Amino acid sequence: GSATSARAQAAAFDFAPIGIATDYEIHVPAGYQWKTLVRYGDPLFAEADGAYNDEPGLSIAMSDKVFGENTDGMETFEVDGRQVIVVNSEYANPKINLPAASAGTPANADEVMMLKNIQGVTVMEVSGTQDGVSVVKDSPLNRRITHETQMTMDGPAAGSDLVKTNADATGMAPKGTMNNCGSGKTLWGTYLTCEENFNGYFGTTAEKEPNAGEKRYGIGGSSRYAYEVYDARFDISKEPNEPHRHGWVTEIDPADPTSAPVKHTALGRFKHENAEMVQAADGRIVVYMGDDERGEFIYRYVSNGTWAEGQPTDGLLSDGTLYVARFNDDQTGEWLPLTPETTGMSAAEVLVFARMAGSKVGATTMDRPEWIAANPLNAEVYCALTNNKNRGVKPNAGGDDTAVNGPNPRETNNYGQIVRWMPSGDDHGSDDFAWDLYVMAGNPTVYDNAYAGSSNVTEGNMFNSPDGMAFDSKGMLWIQTDGDDSNEGEFAGQGNNQMLVGNPETGEIARFLTAPNGAEVTGLCWSLDRKTAFVGIQHPGGSWPDGAGKPRSAIIAVWREDGATVG
Ligand code: FEO
Ligand code: CA
Ligand code: CA
Ligand code: CA
Repeated sequence: GSATSARAQAAAFDFAPIGIATDYEIHVPAGYQWKTLVRYGDPLFAEADGAYNDEPGLSIAMSDKVFGENTDGMETFEVDGRQVIVVNSEYANPKINLPAASAGTPANADEVMMLKNIQGVTVMEVSGTQDGVSVVKDSPLNRRITHETQMTMDGPAAGSDLVKTNADATGMAPKGTMNNCGSGKTLWGTYLTCEENFNGYFGTTAEKEPNAGEKRYGIGGSSRYAYEVYDARFDISKEPNEPHRHGWVTEIDPADPTSAPVKHTALGRFKHENAEMVQAADGRIVVYMGDDERGEFIYRYVSNGTWAEGQPTDGLLSDGTLYVARFNDDQTGEWLPLTPETTGMSAAEVLVFARMAGSKVGATTMDRPEWIAANPLNAEVYCALTNNKNRGVKPNAGGDDTAVNGPNPRETNNYGQIVRWMPSGDDHGSDDFAWDLYVMAGNPTVYDNAYAGSSNVTEGNMFNSPDGMAFDSKGMLWIQTDGDDSNEGEFAGQGNNQMLVGNPETGEIARFLTAPNGAEVTGLCWSLDRKTAFVGIQHPGGSWPDGAGKPRSAIIAVWREDGATVG
C-alpha cells in the first residue's frame, strides 16, 4: 500500500472544482455537459410509449415495461458488441406514484402490483455518445426484474428449513429481489444486485411477538407498502420464513434475458449496500460488503475455488467462507471467519443470521457501512461510513456496545468518514490488514474540534454523509453523498448533495457535480469508451428534471465537450 509508480502517476484533477448549489438543477464543471438519459416511467419497450403521465401517473398495465423508480447502483457491460447498463431501482415513493386518493398507501392489489413492478432491477441497452446517448427501446436485452421475478438460490442456506415456505417446499425457488441498493460486477461479466432494507416490505395481519432473528433484522414493525394486506407472501404471521429469502446478494446475467437470477446465500444475509469483487493473489474470489445499519459490520467473502479468465465459474459464489471485520485501535485489523466452529450456529444459521454470527465473534460496530470500493491500482479498499446518530448512545439491535472506536472516533456522527484498509502482503486473501481514515467529513467553518473534519476537508470541498463510491480507471475515487442538504446549522456551506473526486495518494478532494435539492447522488458507471459517466439522481425535489410537474428520479450522462475520457 505504499507509494508505487502507479500512484505516482495518479492524475491530477482534470476539471476545475465547482462551488456548492442550493437550487433544483444539476451543475458540472466548465467544459463538461450533461443530459438526462432515462427517467422513472420512460419506456423500455415501444408498447409502453406514453405510459407515464404526470397525472394520473404511470399505467399499471405497463408498469413492468418502463424504467423503475429511485435509481441506485449500476454497472456497464458489453454483450455481443452492445453496451448494456444494469441498474437498481431501490424503492418506490407511493406519494408520487399512487393516485392522490390513495394518500400514499395502496388501495388495492393492482396498486400493490404497480409498486412491485417499479422497483427491482432494469437491464437496458444504451447506444450513442454525448448528447446522442439514449436507451435502445425494444432491444432484445432489455428486461425488468421485479418483486415477482422467479429466482433460484445456492450456497449452504439454500434448501435449508430456514428458507422453506408454503409456496416453495424446496427452499430453492424464491421470488423477487427487493430494496436493491448498491451493485457489483463479477470478473466474469455478470451483475450483482444488493438487497438492503428488505425488512420494510414485511408486515403481519395477526398479533406476533418478534423472535430474536426478527428483532436483529428489524422485521415485524409496520411495513412500508401494505403488501401483506394483499399478498400473504409478505405476511410474517403466515410466512415467517419469507424474510429469510431476502437480504442477499443476487447475481443477474445481462447476456441472457431468460436466465433466473441467483441468490447467493454464501455471501450472508444482512442489509447489503454493495458488493466489491476482487481477486486474491492465489486466484480465489474475494467480495467486500457493508451492512448499512447503525452499529452493524463490514464483511468479506472468500471462495474456496480459484478462477482465471475463461475458466468455469461454478461454485465461486456458493462455496467459500464469510468473514467479518475487526478493526483494532492500533490501526491493525483482522477478518474473523464465521463458521459453525467459531459461532456454535449451523452453517445455514451463520448465513441467514450473519449479524448474530458477527456479534458472537466480536466484530467491530461501525457507523453505517455504505459503499465499498477497491483501488484497481493498489491493494487498498475504501468504505464510506455515512453517519451515525447513535454512536456511543445506543447499542446495536444485537446489544453490542457502540462506544467510539478506532475507525469510528466521534460520538454523535452527523458527517461520516471513509475508512480504508490495506491487506497484508498486498493480498486480498490475507486475513490481516492495516487501516487508516482517508477522510473525516466535517465543517471547518462551524467547528474547530473533531467535527471540523480531517485536514483534507476545507471550506471549498466540504460535504456530509459519503455513500456511493467507485474508482475510475485512473485510480481516482469518486464519492457521492446522501446527507443533509439543508445548508443550515452544522451543514451550512455544504449545499445540496454532490459528487466529488478524491486522490488516494495526496488525499485531495474536489467537488465535481451538485444534485438538485432533495436528491441524493447514487450509482456511477462509465460508457465502454469511458467518454461518458452515467450518474444516478435519486429522490430529487422540486420538479427535476423537467422543470414542471412531479420530480422523477433519473440517470444522467456527463461528458467532456472536448471528447476526452471522463475517468
Ligand atoms: Fe440504499 Fe445504504 O443505501
Ligand atoms: Ca446508499
Ligand atoms: Ca445513504
Ligand atoms: Ca437511497
